[in-house]
Amino acid sequence: MISKHHHSDIGRFIAHLNAAINNIRLYSISHPQAGRYIQIAFTDISDLLRSQNTITLILVDEDIVIDHQPLQADRSNISSFIRILKENAIERITFSNGLPENDFSDFIFRLASPVTQSIMSGPFIKVGKVSLKIKPQAIEGQSALSSDQTETIAHLKEVRDRKLEEVKSLYNRAKGHRKINVAGFDDMLKAFIKGFSKGLPPMALLAILKSADEYTFTHVINVCILTMSQAESLGFKGEYLYQIGIASVLHDVGKLFVPEEIIRKPDMLTREERSIIETHTIKGAKYILNLENIPKLAVLGAMEHHIKYNGSGYPLIRGGWQPNIVSQMIAIADVFDALRSRRSYSEPKSLELIKQILQQEKGTTFNPFLVDNFLKLIER
Ligand SMILES: [Fe+2]
Ligand SMILES: [Fe+2]
Repeated sequence: MISKHHHSDIGRFIAHLNAAINNIRLYSISHPQAGRYIQIAFTDISDLLRSQNTITLILVDEDIVIDHQPLQADRSNISSFIRILKENAIERITFSNGLPENDFSDFIFRLASPVTQSIMSGPFIKVGKVSLKIKPQAIEGQSALSSDQTETIAHLKEVRDRKLEEVKSLYNRAKGHRKINVAGFDDMLKAFIKGFSKGLPPMALLAILKSADEYTFTHVINVCILTMSQAESLGFKGEYLYQIGIASVLHDVGKLFVPEEIIRKPDMLTREERSIIETHTIKGAKYILNLENIPKLAVLGAMEHHIKYNGSGYPLIRGGWQPNIVSQMIAIADVFDALRSRRSYSEPKSLELIKQILQQEKGTTFNPFLVDNFLKLIER
């Protein structure tokens, strides 16, 4: 049984942690105010770790649970900490005795910069990733659309088709290795964000492939729709959601730097051709890295979207590297859209079959939690 005293200590620790993170976000890690709060939070946790070897905070619904008990502390404090955990897709954190200050401040810094930084476990801080709680769907149990929603869908489809042309020309610009301005995607992403906030089913928005030539563009827009709607359902909003949109639109930009005859080859690829195609991840990431005003998330998305949940796939990664949560969402959207599209070398698969494939690949190719969430979304 945990004492009240202990709860108030942990509550104080979380308050200082929040303050540190808010200050980093407001100023920077080097701001004295941020440094001061990191130090205070570090003293708090070190004191706590003196009486027990490890402390584990677990996110359960809207509570932080410690030793099977919801933390009794100031509600607004708890909520802002929960928000930070969710932004980072973390469901539990274990701090261990002996925690060095450097590890701690590095961890706080990563917590403060969600999406653009991957959080990894170390010997003294272990994080359990991704069991975000899904917020209840706005239109749970009723798939009939309101007239307002039908209207919005019609509008979004129109935006989507109009944007297909723009995405095409932006992509063609990129093809010549010229820089593109991602602001060109702005109104499309904003329109999608608005639509999802109204609880629109993502499936209603997907574009039907017109011809094999259009594949790349239709594909990136579809992946964008499917990734943003996953993110929105997990509670991402505002600027982050927008960045996620940019990242998903650009995930395959590296394909432009792979010879077209390989991309379009109708038959089985040779091993060599396959390894050339696989370079689209690194090539895309490098290209994006040189663009201005681009969220770092887009670099990660391009680089990581073919890395599987179990660490296999490509590019080859070192042990312990966890792809960003957004890359993991793109991975699902990517495979889903590829399977349902008719391409030169394969017939589209039925929705039932695709769902089965996703189920089977849960835990190996895909993050199981994200698959469950995705399947709920496409059922709407
Ligand atoms: Fe790809
Ligand atoms: Fe893709």
